[in-house]
This record gives sequence, structure tokens and C-alpha cells, in this order.
Amino acid sequence: MFVDLADALAPGSVHSFELAGSPRVVYRTAGGDVLVADAHCPHVGTHLGQGGTVEGECIRCPLHGLRFTPDGACVEARARGGELRLAMYPTRVVAGMVFCWHDPAGGAPDFELPELDAREFLPYRIRTERLALPMEEPLEVHAVDVRHNTTLHREQGVEIVDPFTTDATSTHASLVMRHPATPAGRRMLRVLGFPDGYVETHVEVTTVGLGYQHIRSTVAAMDLVVNQFMLAVPRTAEEIDLHVVYSMRRLRRDGLPGLLRALPLGLLEPMFERAGHGELMAATDEHLRMWTRKRHLSKPGLLDDEDDLRRYRAWVDGFYTTLGTEPARAGDRGSDQYWDARLRG
Ligand code: FES
Ligand SMILES: [Fe+2]
Repeated sequence: MFVDLADALAPGSVHSFELAGSPRVVYRTAGGDVLVADAHCPHVGTHLGQGGTVEGECIRCPLHGLRFTPDGACVEARARGGELRLAMYPTRVVAGMVFCWHDPAGGAPDFELPELDAREFLPYRIRTERLALPMEEPLEVHAVDVRHNTTLHREQGVEIVDPFTTDATSTHASLVMRHPATPAGRRMLRVLGFPDGYVETHVEVTTVGLGYQHIRSTVAAMDLVVNQFMLAVPRTAEEIDLHVVYSMRRLRRDGLPGLLRALPLGLLEPMFERAGHGELMAATDEHLRMWTRKRHLSKPGLLDDEDDLRRYRAWVDGFYTTLGTEPARAGDRGSDQYWDARLRG
């Protein structure tokens, strides 16, 4: 689950956050590692976000000064009847974003997020919306709910490139579409030599687990690449924070059309970056109008030609539902037995 942008965590800083009703702290050690711990000190329950400090690789509790190492062991003391240990959560930094593993049953990670090289990309912009929807509600599903691209977003010429596929913990699909820009974007496209105000965009969507969706949009005609992440984090069983994270790859002069190559990149890059962000925010606003009063249906009335959406919902359910009495783990989710059961259900 998404925690924060890595750049937001200076060495020595301790930030509080909440994940599925459980208060946690995230901090960066002197050595630069980012760690996530239970917010409450195991001594007598002081909140480490209220004055806890980082000392070297340890976090120190403000009340009695006990320190805890990166694996949660207490440096100074042992509790009566057992070791005093701060609960730590597996944490990863992927492409400048901090994620921590969340399993209500306390299990260890059974999959990893993909490596992603974001070095050529401009700093992230992030927008967070609180929605009264559960984690199992599929939200931004460009490549699965293909119909909404033409109805809600008014995209033209939508065509599937890579059909929707799933494995135990991830999904993938891609499509092309001609994107009708906002009025400002359309004016810009006309100036750039696209008389209709449209550009063809290739959209590739990779979802890993329930809290990570990467949408990579490529406009080949301008050699533009945009990374968008839709990062849902459960607050309660019925409420999520949806983080929409945006970043454009630095402009490449050789990829720009015609006359633009003669203009300074320092002028063009912020213009393109703002325009791309404006397009994303417009699409996000279109969705927000749908999401703010939406209700999660456990048995939606899907149409005959919506098998991908049916399959996507079944895949999402796999993170919650059980086979027999055991929690569905990665292996179960990928099995024929699992899919037969889910798709029949
Ligand atoms: S409550 Fe944390 S050291 Fe005592
Ligand atoms: Fe959409």
C-alpha cells in the first residue's frame, strides 16, 4: 500500500499515517532507509509520531527514550516474559514512492512490486481523494472497462492492443485511443500541427495487488511518456484514500514535431507537463463525479460482452475471498480450481 512520496521523507523525519484503521509511522534513518512501524511504542503505548526521533538507524520513543532497531528489537531493555519488540512492516521504495505491505492476517509479502526506472521523469504531482468505497471496488480500469473510455471520457478510435490478462497477483492490458484534449489542450495540439486537436495515445495498464496501478501513456507523435499511478489505500472496510500520482518524462528534443525543436526545452517542458497534468485532472474529475456517490455492488449486472470486467472483479475478489477455509494466497489465486470457482460464482 502506498505510504508517501520518498522525497517527502527527509533523513531523521518521522511521519504518522493510518492504514486500514491501524496507526503507523514512517521514518527515514540516517543511512537513508525508509522504515514503517506500528505507531505505538510496545513499552506503554506512546505514539511515536508525537515526538519520536531517529537516532542513527533506530527510532527513539519520546517518553522513556527506548530505541528500536530496523528489525524492531529494543536496544535497551527486555520486557518481563519476553523480548520488547516494535512491530515493523515490510517496506519498499519503488520509483520514488514508498509502499508498505498490508496483510490483515499478518502474513509476509507473497509478491513484489515491479522495478521501474523513473530517473528521466519530472517530479511527481499527487492528488488525494477520500472515497466512500471499499478496496474491492474496481476504480480506474481503462483497459478493462473499455466502454467507459468512449462514454465518460469521449475517447475516439479505442482499440485493444494487448488483451487483458491476469496472473495470481497482477493484471496487464494495453490499448490505443485518440484523446480529445480539453479546450486548452486542443488549442495547443492545433498549434503543434494536429489540426483535429487529437493525438493517438498508447495506454498500458499494469495492476499489481490491490494498491498499485501503473498507467503508462505514450504519445509517439511527440515522443511523450507519462506515468500515472492510481494508488488506493484502505482507511476502513468502507473507505479508501485514492492517490493519483502523475509524472511526465523529460522532453526529448528529437521527438518533438517540426518547429518546436527550435524552441528552448526550458520553455516547452513546463508547458507540456502542465498540459498533461491538466488532462489527467480533467479525467480524474470526470471519474470523481461517478465515484463520490457510487455504491459497491457485490453482484453487479455485467453485460454479455464484459468478460474482462467480470474477470477483473473476480481477480480483485481473490485478495479477499477464501478457497475452503484458508485465506486465498498467491498460489490459490492463480490455480484453475480458483478461477473455476470464482467465475462460476
Ligand atoms: S512508552 Fe515508549 S519508551 Fe516508554
Ligand atoms: Fe477512466
